[in-house]
Amino acid sequence: MPIKLPFLGKKNKHKQKQQDALQKEALPKHVAIIMDGNGRWAKKRGMPRVAGHKEGMSNVKKIVTAASGYQLEALTLYAFSTENWRRPKAEVDYLMKLPMEFLNTYLPELVEKNVKVQTIGRFDGLPKHTRDAVEKAKDRTKGNTGLILNIALNYGSRNELMEAMKSFLNDVQAGNKSAEDLNEESFSEYLYTKNLPDPDLLIRTSGEQRLSNFLLWQSAYTELWFTDVLWPDFDEQLFEKALSDYQKRKRRYGGI
Ligand code: FPP
Repeated sequence: MPIKLPFLGKKNKHKQKQQDALQKEALPKHVAIIMDGNGRWAKKRGMPRVAGHKEGMSNVKKIVTAASGYQLEALTLYAFSTENWRRPKAEVDYLMKLPMEFLNTYLPELVEKNVKVQTIGRFDGLPKHTRDAVEKAKDRTKGNTGLILNIALNYGSRNELMEAMKSFLNDVQAGNKSAEDLNEESFSEYLYTKNLPDPDLLIRTSGEQRLSNFLLWQSAYTELWFTDVLWPDFDEQLFEKALSDYQKRKRRYGGI
């Protein structure tokens, strides 16, 4: 069934065609985004890097609204990686304030849109103000049944896999599990993403074409989509283009 999208000008024939082509049932369930290029966006404008992150945060709001409008099941955003601690302290401090600022500003709207906030990553490694803001948002939205906004904060895929392995070994040592219990499905239960489907589509902005330690296990069969556009400039139209391109892909999962 064609889906009616709120973002298209009726006069634009090309866009109308694209709209007609988007099929609701063929939309990805779970989209993951590596929001890259904030620093370059700021540099191009002679602004400090943090100004790019601020603009990037505003853009998160735009894309969350769009994803919720498409009735996607989940949107996972790579907001801070385990490697991002290597950045200058002032930038790290700023990045750690953004989830708080985002959630404090937009929480009422997220609640109203039935969005459920979740996070993946090492929560205990985050500053208290970041944890508090996230806990509050999770609590306020826990009963919501719409889009899952999954924020990857202090997330690294290798770390996630290692921690999962440790938890499994602990269960074995405690006598609750044995090696025979380990299979792809049961292992997935030890990951941060245990309640989520694997991402169907992974978008990376800013021209870089790598996964950067993001959802390595979960994206085994994910469709990858890259754009040169920097994250603060990635708008609803481009998001729609990514979804439309995704619908043209043939997913074979190793079959023929
Ligand atoms: C990478 O771009 C971006 C980040 C490390 C931070 C991404 C964070 C946001 C977009 C805001 C987070 C918002 C919420 C809601 C938590 P970069 O700065 O490395 O770009 P560059 O490669 O151009 O330097």
